This record gives sequence, C-alpha cells and structure tokens, in this order.
Amino acid sequence: MKVRAAVQSAHRTNCDGREKKDEQARPGALPLRGKEPAPPKGRLRCGFVTVKEPVTEQLQVRILRQESPVAEPRWETFKYDGPADNSVAGLLDYLNYNDDITDADGNRTTRISWEHACMQGMCGACAMVINGTPALACETFLRDFKGKEITIRPLRKFPVIRDLIVDRTVIQENLMNANMYIGEYKPSDGDKGKADIAYAVAKCLKCGLCMEVCPNYVNGKNFFGAAFANDCYLVASRNSAKAGEIRKIYGEHFGSGCSKDLSCMKVCPAGIPILGIIARMNR
Ligand code: SF4
Ligand code: FES
Repeated sequence: MKVRAAVQSAHRTNCDGREKKDEQARPGALPLRGKEPAPPKGRLRCGFVTVKEPVTEQLQVRILRQESPVAEPRWETFKYDGPADNSVAGLLDYLNYNDDITDADGNRTTRISWEHACMQGMCGACAMVINGTPALACETFLRDFKGKEITIRPLRKFPVIRDLIVDRTVIQENLMNANMYIGEYKPSDGDKGKADIAYAVAKCLKCGLCMEVCPNYVNGKNFFGAAFANDCYLVASRNSAKAGEIRKIYGEHFGSGCSKDLSCMKVCPAGIPILGIIARMNR
C-alpha cells in the first residue's frame, strides 16, 4: 500500500519545465523519491532526460530578392528570432515557416525561394553568397558570424531564376559539349597519388562556388572553371585512350586561362585539391 501511495503522489515534469501531477500512475511503475529537483539553469527536463534549453539569437537578415529572371533585384530585410545554433539554411526555413511572411517593417511579402535537397553539404544546391562569402547555406552556421546582421544574395556568376535560385545548367552543358564521359574504364595503374586525387575529384558537387570566386570565370566565355577541370582529370586518369583528347580540351578551357589564383580551393566545400589536378594535368 505504501508503494501505491507513493506512485499516486509522484510528480512528472513536462518538456516545457512545468510540473504535472500524475493522475493515473502506471501500474508497476517504480515510486519516485518525493518531488524531483528542478533542472539546472539553462536546461529543461524532457521525460527522463535533461536537455539544454535552446538559446535564441536575434538578427537582422537582408536578402536580395528577384521575382523573375527579368525583374529588378531589391533588398528586403527580415527579423530572425530563432535558435542560435541554426545554419543559414535553417534560418531561411525559419523565415519561410508561416503562411503570412512579413518583412522587418511588418509588410506582407512572398516566401523566399531557395534551392536545397540534402541539407548536409552533399548536393551543392544551396550555394549562395552569405555576408559576401560564397558558401553552402546548410554548412554555414549563425555562430560563425559576428554582429547582428546577415546579408544573403544569390551567386553572381549565374543567371538568377528567382530570389536565391540560380541557373547552373552551364556546368553540365560544358561537360556534355566536351563529351566528358569516362567511356571504357581502365583499372588503376597502381599510381596511388593519381587514384587519391581521382577519388577526391569524384566528390565534386557541381555547386559552382569555385566559379563564383574565380577572377577568370565569366559565364559564357571560354574559361570553364575548376568544376570542369575536375572532370577532365577524372576522365583522363581513367581512360588512357581518351587522355590525349581530354588534355587538349583541358588546356583550351581551363589550363590556358587559369591564373593560379586558387581562391577556388578556399571555398570548395568538398575540399578538392585543384592544385594537384593542375600539377598532374600540366605534366
Ligand atoms: S570543385 Fe568544389 S567548389 Fe567547384 S563545383 Fe566542385 S565542389 Fe563545388
Ligand atoms: S542542401 Fe545539399 S548541400 Fe546544402
């Protein structure tokens, strides 16, 4: 009977920190030893575990918006009052959450268009310019920034489709036009350095960040950028019959125009060793 009385008087704490009396104790449940102590400051009790209370951040977010490929771009400002450990992708989701989107002055506006798929740095879709630096939104975190304002704009080297969505078809078109297919695959010739670079190159997301930062890349011109050079290396290192033809194409569309600025290496989210590719393709 003593056990039953103890169970009936047991208290549980909800996720929001409020205490709630158990109206119907579970049969066979262990008795709690009196009232549970309050969780430490900054933490919440959630069932049987104690979790950190979310820390929020208040930010002013300026986003360059454009309704269509031919519309005039305009800056719009939003207020963010959400989790401090969010990524920029999470911030955009947060701003888009409600049906009624309003800007910082309370004026109604439309949802912010942006592209994403994996949300873990694997697809390259969410590439944009954040506080002046080209980066993946899902891999860039609010804690990485100082100050209370964030600016977000679409990549500048590609035509805007809407808001933060750009048309990166040129990356695939350049590869297709150069007939960049491995074709008959030859097994590795035992050169480990070559195989390591080929493995790294295969991780290219085709996000376009390398083209965005490259001083030599201009959309529609003859220089195709590091994403193109990657595939040249991949095909040339895997198919010796095509290697000569690919090296020629590489020279025309990358080798002759690259000034070794190497800013592409600094922004590449896949960590592709472009310098290693240049060194091996120029041999
Ligand atoms: S080389 Fe790096 S920056 Fe360029 S498209 Fe590939 S993953 Fe993106
Ligand atoms: S959503 Fe895929 S890389 Fe960001």
